[in-house]
Parts: sequence; structure tokens; C-alpha cells
Amino acid sequence: MSVLKAENITKIYGGKKGALKVKALDNFSINIESGEFVGVMGPSGSGKTTLLNILATIDTPSSGELYINDTNPMKLDEKHTALFRRRTLGFIFQDYNLLDTLSLKENIILPLALEKVDPKIIEDKVNDMAEILNIKDILNKKPYEVSGGQQQRAAIARALIHNPSIILADEPTGNLDSKASNEVMESLKSLNEERKATIMMVTHDPFAASFCHRIVMIKDGKFFLEIVKGSNRHAFFKEILDSLSLLGGNYNDIA
Ligand SMILES: Nc1ncnc2c1ncn2[C@@H]1O[C@H](COP(=O)(O)OP(=O)(O)OP(=O)(O)O)[C@@H](O)[C@H]1O
Ligand SMILES: [Mg+2]
Repeated sequence: MSVLKAENITKIYGGKKGALKVKALDNFSINIESGEFVGVMGPSGSGKTTLLNILATIDTPSSGELYINDTNPMKLDEKHTALFRRRTLGFIFQDYNLLDTLSLKENIILPLALEKVDPKIIEDKVNDMAEILNIKDILNKKPYEVSGGQQQRAAIARALIHNPSIILADEPTGNLDSKASNEVMESLKSLNEERKATIMMVTHDPFAASFCHRIVMIKDGKFFLEIVKGSNRHAFFKEILDSLSLLGGNYNDIA
């Protein structure tokens, strides 16, 4: 079952009052099936954030179609777009985006509190999430009292607690050291495998990418190539490095 389908998305910025036009996305298509864990990689300026913003219904394409659960969110009015976004999508950001005045627990339950869910159900769900993400003992701490990796795992709990159809993650390990990155990626992997969470993740990090089922590479706003994981994560990691060196741009340094 397709959860997200973007067809021939083109995004042109600028062009008004003589400003230079930039084609950030050029006929880009992607289809994500329920239960998939998809990575998107590409050099700086290749259009990844533009793509995420369009999929997140925060920005609109110049042309092309978008379907999430067979709904075209571009056809909804402003109020329904906001509701659709809140209920259907989950977001994970590079800088966690937790509210500093709230405890981790209060941050995590925000999406349910907005929906006026029964407090007993909220309590069960937050404990369940905290258990999988290994943050049970720190739920009452404020974001600034815990590590970056712990903050990101709380942000993941918040993104998933309302069972969204798809999680959109933008560089979730971008601010983390290798140990915390590994914990965050292991968490996403188990949420994908055990809770059937569907995830699309933009990343520069080949190690993080090796947790995905497949990687779509994008260059100059266009589809460049796709690689699919076999049974072995280490072999996939090598394949990712090889593909990144083909991709060029700022990836030549890594390879
Ligand atoms: N609001 C905007 N107005 C004009 N041009 C923009 C705007 N946002 C992005 N661009 C341009 O569109 C292209 C794609 O940018 P985008 O931010 O999507 O790249 P990216 O792949 O996310 O890069 P990075 O890896 O550096 O985050 C770039 O050429 C960028 O300069
Ligand atoms: Mg970006």
C-alpha cells in the first residue's frame, strides 16, 4: 500500500522582480510503501530540504502531484492542511525541536494533548514509547538536563506517539556523536520493524543511511540513482560509499 506518492515534482524558486530563478526540484518522483524505511541523500543544494518541505505540506511545488494516503493535501484548505499535517505526519529534526520549558514527558504527549485523548491512554502510550526508546528514567527531566541523543530519542517518541502514517526525518543524527547516532538509528530501526513505522529520512551520514531499506540519491533536483539493501548492513554501507563517490559534490571528501 502506498503511503506517499510524489509525481513529477518541480519546484522553481524566485523569478519575481527579476530575481534569478532556481530549479530546486526537476521532475522528481518518489513512492513510499507502508512499512518502508527510505533514505534520501544528495550533495548540498541538491533539493533535499525543498523535497521534505513539499512532502510536509509546508511548501507547494510549482508543478507535480502529491498524494499521502491517497489524499492530495494540496487540495485541502489551510485549516484542514494543518490538521492533516498534525494527524498524518510525524517530524524529526536535526536540532530536536523540544520545548525547553516542558519535561520530556510533556513534550512527548503534545500531539495527543492537542487531540484531547483520554489521560489514561496518554499515560499508557508515553510509557510504551519511553520503554522502546530507553528514556523511562529521564521522562521528568527538562531537555537541557539530558544529552543530545536522549533529547533526540524523546523527539522520536513525540513524532510517533500518535501513530502517524509517515515520519519525515531531516538529518536526525546531524548533531550527534557516533555512539548517540547509533542509538538513535537503532531506535528508528526497531520502531520500523516492530511498530511498522514508515520512515523517510534525509541524511548526509552513510552510517545512518545504512539502516534504511533503500536509498534514493538526488542530484541537481533530479533522481540520480537508487540502491536497495540486501541482507547485510555492512555490504550496504560500502555500496552507499561507492554511490556517493559517483554522486560527487561534497561527497568526494567522504569517499
Ligand atoms: N527559499 C528559497 N529561495 C530561493 N532559492 C532557494 C530557496 N530555498 C532553497 N533554494 C535553492 O534551491 C536549491 C536546493 O536547496 P535545498 O535547501 O533544497 O538543498 P539541500 O539538498 O537541502 O542542501 P543541504 O544539504 O545544504 O541542506 C539550492 O540551489 C538553494 O540555493
Ligand atoms: Mg537541506
